[in-house]
Amino acid sequence: MREINSLGISAEMLGQIYKKSDLYEASSAFAEHMGHPMLSQRTFEEGLSVIVENSNVLATNSGTSALHLALRVLGIGQGDEVICPTFTFVAVANAIRYVNARPVFVGIEENSLNISVEHIKDVINNRLKRNKPLPKAIIAVHAFGIPFNVKEIVDLCNLYNIHLIEDAAGALGSRYEGKHVGNYGHIGIFSFNYNKIITTAGGGALISNTLNYVDKARALASQAKITGSNYVHFDLGYNYIMHPMAAELGSVMLKKFYEILNLKQDLYEFYRSELNGKGLEFFDDAHNYRSNKWLIPVTIAHTNIGRERFSEFTRMWYPLHAQKIFNEFDYFGNDRALDIFNKGFCLPNYSYISEDEVWDTISNIKNILADE
Ligand SMILES: Cc1ncc(COP(=O)(O)O)c(C=O)c1O
Repeated sequence: MREINSLGISAEMLGQIYKKSDLYEASSAFAEHMGHPMLSQRTFEEGLSVIVENSNVLATNSGTSALHLALRVLGIGQGDEVICPTFTFVAVANAIRYVNARPVFVGIEENSLNISVEHIKDVINNRLKRNKPLPKAIIAVHAFGIPFNVKEIVDLCNLYNIHLIEDAAGALGSRYEGKHVGNYGHIGIFSFNYNKIITTAGGGALISNTLNYVDKARALASQAKITGSNYVHFDLGYNYIMHPMAAELGSVMLKKFYEILNLKQDLYEFYRSELNGKGLEFFDDAHNYRSNKWLIPVTIAHTNIGRERFSEFTRMWYPLHAQKIFNEFDYFGNDRALDIFNKGFCLPNYSYISEDEVWDTISNIKNILADE
């Protein structure tokens, strides 16, 4: 019988998603595949391809390396401009710099945490007006697993012949208009680092509807060695292939993926039912997408309660355009990303959270909000 706890969530789920036995299972598969490390990687890629609904998958050693490969495969290089959101993880802008391209930072939508279509248009119009080359690519991020405005951005990319890289680092399991995210761009990437919805203890993936892109990425990720040659290399390559032990751990985690996804959705609904509209604002799904609820970002609605009162909670990203290391690059947007940074945080929803921790969190937050 499925035991239900006081949160209304399957009791056996909380606190024990990642078990020691998972590690044993992964390490015995690793031992079995010893001598054939590609088998570990391919098994994970095949498992992942079912979830992301794309058979062209490359498993990498991080999401950052997948981004770097995506830019290399699409031929982005010296002096090219690449649009990306200001409100995201630094790896996005770093990858752009790795290929000596220039990030153009863009603000977020008024009612979401994702890149603003209007401000992307501002960049394009600005470059057209000044007779400057258009950006070669957009890296659009499904922030916190919440799908960005895919349709309008794909249309813009098609209209102006701009490559679209879909950063779905935290969006495994998120769907937009019935399709898994990552499939709408020229290339999509995922991350499986420690804090993601499933982890390989460090890893990532790259997918594409164009098999050629994935083949090229695979070759670059394996030191660009000419197949069958004796250490002859066709290009500047990298050591970016996922470690076989990480891949084995990934294969074990994939079997639990839908369970974890359900837990995340349940936790979201539970927190929402207790806290939404009572001083916190949640980011609900729209009719045409479903977020994986990897994280639960919220903003403080009360103007007289400062972010410092919630110092124990995980902060959201400090906007990239405001960071010293990127101050030479253009920004098209307003202050909303900074505003969100100042009044937002993420609720604890890790897969091993206990029932007591959830209740404590809710009562702490209610106490703070009662001071309004
Ligand atoms: C939006 C985004 N892109 C890329 C990455 C990089 O992934 P990784 O840490 O696996 O290199 C992250 C990591 O959290 C991320 O949040």
